[in-house]
Amino acid sequence: MATTISRDPAGTLALGRALAAELRAGDVVALTGDLGAGKTHFVKGLAAGLGATGEATSPTFTLLHEYEGGRLPLYHLDFYRLATPAEALALGLDEYLDGPGACAIEWADKFPDLLPARTVWLRLAHGADGSRTVSRE
Ligand SMILES: Nc1ncnc2c1ncn2[C@@H]1O[C@H](COP(=O)(O)OP(=O)(O)OP(=O)(O)O)[C@@H](O)[C@H]1O
Ligand SMILES: [Mg+2]
Repeated sequence: MATTISRDPAGTLALGRALAAELRAGDVVALTGDLGAGKTHFVKGLAAGLGATGEATSPTFTLLHEYEGGRLPLYHLDFYRLATPAEALALGLDEYLDGPGACAIEWADKFPDLLPARTVWLRLAHGADGSRTVSRE
């Protein structure tokens, strides 16, 4: 398990940008870690690294963002407010997993069985002095 330290929010964005260079259609990045650990910042780095130029608005805004205009679409899902796996499926999870873009899913460990074996699992954690650690499992 490789662990990287992020000293500040810009560092977490940079780690997301770096991973974006590796992303291909169908890739799934699962993000776990405590409230405020930096999961959303990391996904914003992914979107920036893909060159996304905009976000699609949707009625399920807090559960699902689509970043468009980049090298690949990026589907950003957040399981935090979902109570059951059925709610994730009702959002269209399977279509996003098998869509033409890549998926990044916050609080993915709530329903790990919904995600494919190819999923890359990243755990973010609060470190000393406001830093964060990002570990690839
Ligand atoms: N090294 C760091 N990396 C990322 N965020 C940091 C860092 N240091 C401080 N922060 C702050 O921590 C907060 C992280 O917020 P973010 O929304 O990315 O976390 P999150 O894991 O998505 O939280 P949630 O579980 O609520 O979705 C931001 O306010 C950010 O400015
Ligand atoms: Mg978040």
